[in-house]
Amino acid sequence: MSSLPPPEPVHRPVLLEQVLAGLNPTPGMILVDGTAGAGGHTAALARLVQPGGRVIGLDRDPEMLRMATEATRGLPVELVHAPYSDLADVLEERGIEAVDGVLLDLGLSSDQLAWEHRGFSFGREGPLDMRFDPEGETTAADLVNSLSADELADIFFHLGEERFSRRVARRIVESRKFEGPITTTSRLATLVRSSIPGKWGPIDPATRVFQALRIAVNRELEHLDHTLSHLPEWLRPGGRAAIISFHSLEDRRVKHAFRNDPRWNVLTKKPVTASPDEVGQNPRARSAKLRVAERCPTTQ
Ligand SMILES: C[S@@+](CC[C@H](N)C(=O)[O-])C[C@H]1O[C@@H](n2cnc3c(N)ncnc32)[C@H](O)[C@@H]1O
Repeated sequence: MSSLPPPEPVHRPVLLEQVLAGLNPTPGMILVDGTAGAGGHTAALARLVQPGGRVIGLDRDPEMLRMATEATRGLPVELVHAPYSDLADVLEERGIEAVDGVLLDLGLSSDQLAWEHRGFSFGREGPLDMRFDPEGETTAADLVNSLSADELADIFFHLGEERFSRRVARRIVESRKFEGPITTTSRLATLVRSSIPGKWGPIDPATRVFQALRIAVNRELEHLDHTLSHLPEWLRPGGRAAIISFHSLEDRRVKHAFRNDPRWNVLTKKPVTASPDEVGQNPRARSAKLRVAERCPTTQ
């Protein structure tokens, strides 16, 4: 990690009141924030488990953990550089059998999006990277320059719901063949836009392709699926899980896991969404959906 002081976070925690109501933190509890990010939710939870409790905050991104360190200074928080899917190991290393609550606020933080050197944003010139963990093996450039047109099209279609996935993929393969490897966000964004026929609507077509690549680079759905199948084992009976998702691929998984696994008692019949006020102050909250479930006391 670099020794520069962390910048001021631009990220605002979404659905904060609703997360607190859902997890219902009380003094003495041990909670996990699996996606600590800039530490907004972590700090709010940590204030409420005092005295006697603590929050374990995980993130794959060391730059985000530096921000979370600032935001949680003086609070009972332990920050760990690990994916949330490794929670079993993180708890075992600390001699913790089960916790009282787990929060996952999925996806990308506004800070990561704003840092051009991380390559998440099609609106900022940067290297085509997109790894949450800069030590991760595969970058977006690796995928874009090595996969076949069919493999790329499948990623754009399945993870970005891009209607013109085959056209975009063909254009990419053609460009890298004749003009050399694609290594910057701006070149990829230009290629995507030039492959989409007709006029685009209010959403830049690069949005869907960038989302798809980010999900593929970080294997986001694999981490989520693994975690959803083990989460009940990591919670004490009566413990709660609160999960915020930002697109249908994630929300569908959370909804089905909560509904179909008899170890859960679902507390949110419909997903909780942000008020117009919150969306006005934080446009990112527009697509947030929160689901909360309680670990049933009676099932194993
Ligand atoms: C939406 S942000 C969380 C924001 C945070 N709740 C706050 O209030 O600042 C999502 C964070 O999750 C991290 N992340 C994404 N996938 C992860 C995973 N599988 N394990 C741990 N952290 C992950 C990202 O690096 C990012 O910092």
